[in-house]
Amino acid sequence: MLTNPILTEASAQFAADVRRGLTQVGQKELPSKYLYDALGSRLFEAICELDEYALTRADERLLRGNAREMVARIPGPMVVAELGSGNGRKARWILEAVSRNRPTSYYPIEISPTALAMCRRELADIEAVSVVGFEREYLDGLLEVASRRQPGRRILVLFLGSTIGNFDRPADVHFLREVRRILQPGDALLLGTDLEKPIDQLIRAYDDPLGITAAFNLNLLARINRELDADFIIEQFEHEARFNFDTRSIEMHIRSTRDQIVTVGGAGMSAPILENETIWTESCHKYTVDEVTAMAATADFYCDAQWVDDQWPFAESLLVAE
Ligand code: AVJ
Repeated sequence: MLTNPILTEASAQFAADVRRGLTQVGQKELPSKYLYDALGSRLFEAICELDEYALTRADERLLRGNAREMVARIPGPMVVAELGSGNGRKARWILEAVSRNRPTSYYPIEISPTALAMCRRELADIEAVSVVGFEREYLDGLLEVASRRQPGRRILVLFLGSTIGNFDRPADVHFLREVRRILQPGDALLLGTDLEKPIDQLIRAYDDPLGITAAFNLNLLARINRELDADFIIEQFEHEARFNFDTRSIEMHIRSTRDQIVTVGGAGMSAPILENETIWTESCHKYTVDEVTAMAATADFYCDAQWVDDQWPFAESLLVAE
């Protein structure tokens, strides 16, 4: 009676992903989506306050300054869905612009219950907007939104913050295709992408002097300790951010400072980790504006407009389904 089947399923998936990622031959890895438990979501919020991580502020400036124009480019009534809403702050300007004309529905899709709760709280004061959150993977959640579509309404999907950069190329384009398949012609996707910039600036954004990003990254091991009965000694690992010139992405890794063996009871496994061996936890790809336009075209969207921040190269692209 007390077991929650969704939670159980999620932690079984977590255990399976950890087991696979830590026992595979070659580079060990852990999926970046697991960085966002309750503590990880709060650490990410703190990252967004850092001077060095100007990405979120650039995203917010573009949305705040251009929301009305963005929304005006999509005619008629619409609902708004967001893939990975986080705390919901960025959706505010879009939702205020959309709900000026008529009451509207907003569907944040989030695997993090902590983020979903923050989002509901953040947007509670906009009376013309009803918030219906889905604790789901992106595409599952979007399917759900599409299945509730009322005739004549368009769907505006927000995919902000350069979260698309977590996908490898060309998995990013495949993902856009999957999104496109769920949409109808005339629906829109507002896509935020971080742009290429000097490497030293990028490294500082992902390896800040206060060590917040390090804590965010290492918390993944702490989370595995908490939720999967593992014995990582956090002090024996360190955060590393590097730029991969081939893939044009920042990679976050966790480096072992000695030879050690870790056991993850909840995943039924042990694995040796060598001194200097790393666990790859995240990729953050950087784009050019033309590349985004080309990706959109490959996925059957056309790029209706783009906005680029003048302080921190970051682009907002309004993609319309063909
Ligand atoms: C939330 C995926 C957009 O890639 O910049 C921030 C995550 N990782 N600092 C990013 C992140 C380390 C962030 N995204």
